[in-house]
Amino acid sequence: MKRPYQLVIVILVLFSFSKINHAIHVHILNMLDDGQSIKLHCRSKDDDIGNFILEQGEAAEWSFSINFWGTTLFYCDMQFSNSSKISYHFDAFSTERDWERCYSKCRWIISEKGSLYGYDQQLDQWNLFPLTKI
Ligand SMILES: *[C@@H]1O[C@H](CO)[C@@H](O)[C@H](O)[C@H]1NC(C)=O
Repeated sequence: MKRPYQLVIVILVLFSFSKINHAIHVHILNMLDDGQSIKLHCRSKDDDIGNFILEQGEAAEWSFSINFWGTTLFYCDMQFSNSSKISYHFDAFSTERDWERCYSKCRWIISEKGSLYGYDQQLDQWNLFPLTKI
């Protein structure tokens, strides 16, 4: 009867080294230079974070854990107050892309002319990310 016990230990050790065992915090900040508000809607396959209206200086935030399969993906659609016809799309957290880059916190800033900057915790730097127009 030694074996089942060992198996449990192995599983617990694997679990503690895996990506899924901790909370990740997302933070998306409106720093548009022209004072516009941002309408933001973020969700994953399982969770709808809902709609945010972010005035300049305001942020949307939420926390989650990566699912067991490592397939967690949160994506966002946003519109600027100057046009409700154009939506922009970006991934706020993709496990494949971000599990090291955002190991505990995923910070985003929407800045001048709608540029999207994401913070890389590992390299300690901000990077420009593309927005898809939809
Ligand atoms: C609306 O605002 C965004 C963000 O500042 C800007 O990129 C875009 O060109 C503006 N669109 C119009 C139609 O003014």
